[in-house]
Amino acid sequence: VTQEVITIGMVGAGSMARAHAMAYAAMPILHPKAPAMPRKIVIADASEELGRAAARRLGFEKGVGDWRQVTDASDVDAVDIVTPPHLHAEIAIRAVEAGKHVLCEKPLALSDAEAERMWRAAQRAGVVHMTAFNFRHVPAVAFAKQLLEEGKIGAPLSFRGSYLTDWAADAAVPYSWAFDARSAGSGALGDIGSHIIDLAHFLIGDVVAVNALTETYIGERRMAGAPEGDPSAVRRVEVDDAVWSLLEFREGARGCIEASRYALGLHNFLTFEIHGAEGSIVFDAENRDVLHAFFRRGPITERGFRRIMTGPDHPHGEALWRIPGMGVGFGDMKVLECYAFIDAVAAGREATPSFVDGYKAARVCSGIIASAATRQWTQIPPMTDTADPRSREAVA
Ligand SMILES: NC(=O)c1ccc[n+]([C@@H]2O[C@H](COP(=O)([O-])OP(=O)(O)OC[C@H]3O[C@@H](n4cnc5c(N)ncnc54)[C@H](O)[C@@H]3O)[C@@H](O)[C@H]2O)c1
Repeated sequence: VTQEVITIGMVGAGSMARAHAMAYAAMPILHPKAPAMPRKIVIADASEELGRAAARRLGFEKGVGDWRQVTDASDVDAVDIVTPPHLHAEIAIRAVEAGKHVLCEKPLALSDAEAERMWRAAQRAGVVHMTAFNFRHVPAVAFAKQLLEEGKIGAPLSFRGSYLTDWAADAAVPYSWAFDARSAGSGALGDIGSHIIDLAHFLIGDVVAVNALTETYIGERRMAGAPEGDPSAVRRVEVDDAVWSLLEFREGARGCIEASRYALGLHNFLTFEIHGAEGSIVFDAENRDVLHAFFRRGPITERGFRRIMTGPDHPHGEALWRIPGMGVGFGDMKVLECYAFIDAVAAGREATPSFVDGYKAARVCSGIIASAATRQWTQIPPMTDTADPRSREAVA
């Protein structure tokens, strides 16, 4: 393990701050090729008191109440943004303009226009930028991508992805930023649908058209802790609880996605199925270390789905426990994401998924919202200049 230190400043101290802080601490322990040691310097929360408490709990040297003390700190190399989405753009743009590398949670921004500004600012600044679409780093998902690239299931014909949860299925769940379009941009779509849209992009390629429906099942919610019968504590929910969309891919495949916060009994159920001309792939994040694959070759009597247990020999598998079957959990996924970010920063190379991928997912989310509103197919216009200037230089 190298002695190089990369200093981290974090903004936000909620559930993802816990996950990311854990990953910075665990990555050099779990990953035999840790490219540098992350050092947790400063964390900002919504007030100085909260910031100080978060620093103690999450292992940062200092806690502050103004995020500019993170983006502007001379001793911070990289800024990790784990706030609600409406703050992502302002924080990320200030951070990259101060020369910081940035890891930002999904959805990257409230809209495609905002995501584009973030991406262009990061590109101009020449820093490493990454969107926290963490499922890409799961060995079974990366192995699915490898099977596709090797042509093992032939040309992909169909992609079916879903991310189903039920945390909002109870009207007693209080109003929060996740139900507010001004803080979250959209509902299930940006919150969890963006993960599955990114996987569609990663595994199959660009989405060029969508045809979508959305639904809001619970139209108003009460503020947390508000007394019964107080009408001023009731807020209208303007974002989707569920979304469905058909997808058309540039390379010809077709497919669909579904995301819901009202799928009773399913708490964190992300799945995708890819059917190709020569086989099929099935992934289910509740069994994150397994990939199911079917190959058409061989005697018809011996064909069937294989249950492939991923381990150290699969892509990104070196950070897993030494033998297959020990499980890949949410924490492992965040450790693998942290490795990818720190590795890109240490090597000064482009990270994946980058802000471009966050921007691409935001474009599809905007298309889905427009399609649901108009009940029409909506085209996602082609992008012409997605390459990172450094990779262009590398090619030239
Ligand atoms: N990758 C994943 O699987 C995953 C899972 C959950 C959430 N997320 C994303 O992570 C982000 C954060 O979600 P969360 O679940 O941690 O939310 P959360 O509500 O648990 O935490 C948000 C934090 O931001 C802080 N905050 C609010 N305003 C602030 C300000 N002005 N300055 C500093 N801090 C401020 C809050 O005090 C809180 O500590 C969101 O973009 C969400 O979509 C990603």
